[in-house]
Amino acid sequence: MRLILLGPPGSGKGTQAQRLVQRHGIIQLSTGEMLRAAVAAQTPVGLKAKDIMASGGLVPDDIVIGIISDRLDQPDAAKGFILDGFPRTVPQAEALDELLKKKHMKLDAVIELRVNESALLQRVETRAAETRARGEEVRIDDTPEVLTKRLASYRSQTEPLIHYYSERRKLLTVDGMMTIEHVTREINRILAAIGAVDIKASEKA
Ligand code: AP5
Repeated sequence: MRLILLGPPGSGKGTQAQRLVQRHGIIQLSTGEMLRAAVAAQTPVGLKAKDIMASGGLVPDDIVIGIISDRLDQPDAAKGFILDGFPRTVPQAEALDELLKKKHMKLDAVIELRVNESALLQRVETRAAETRARGEEVRIDDTPEVLTKRLASYRSQTEPLIHYYSERRKLLTVDGMMTIEHVTREINRILAAIGAVDIKASEKA
């Protein structure tokens, strides 16, 4: 299975990717997680990305395309993967098409999680409050001000991908306002319907 989860910040991409990974035994490739690890380790990529991420902007395409290209070269990616947070711009989507073509791989689907803006704000606020309550460090971009900028980046640079993948007949939209369990069930139903997973695996979720 080769899947892209597309959606605004807080729409549930990471949550759903983890549930699909557990169910189907494939890997999750989250550029946000990889970039946060690079920032924490103060690598050259992390040093370039830190301020951009903190301000709610998008890290330059060449950097994230490089990260994904290296990751897709690893043997564990051959079995399938869920892309969470990549691609986020049309040039990233075009680069992914090229990378997959070279590997003779095809995408099964792009699942768009649709969630309204007030719910996104609420979810990110709740996540920050819960993280703080556990005594853990809150994500630097999980403030209402930065979230507003992240949403603006999504609308201007990532939303065009809805058209990009719709034209290529890869786009499937899921109501991300349902409970986490219902969203997982719906994604699995779709994956079974397009033949990307077997029906029994989808029913167990
Ligand atoms: P990234 O880490 O990808 O963040 P994001 O897209 O802003 O998404 P989030 O992680 O906030 O949300 P999510 O959709 O994964 O939702 P989650 O499951 O966590 O990117 C961070 C930054 O890195 C970017 O701003 C950019 O600077 C940079 N970056 C990353 N990739 C890049 C790229 N390709 N190009 C350029 N720059 C890039 O859920 C959120 C909360 O809601 C959780 O608490 C969860 O429990 C809850 N929740 C989830 N689903 C539900 C539900 N159905 N009902 C109720 N609550 C729910």
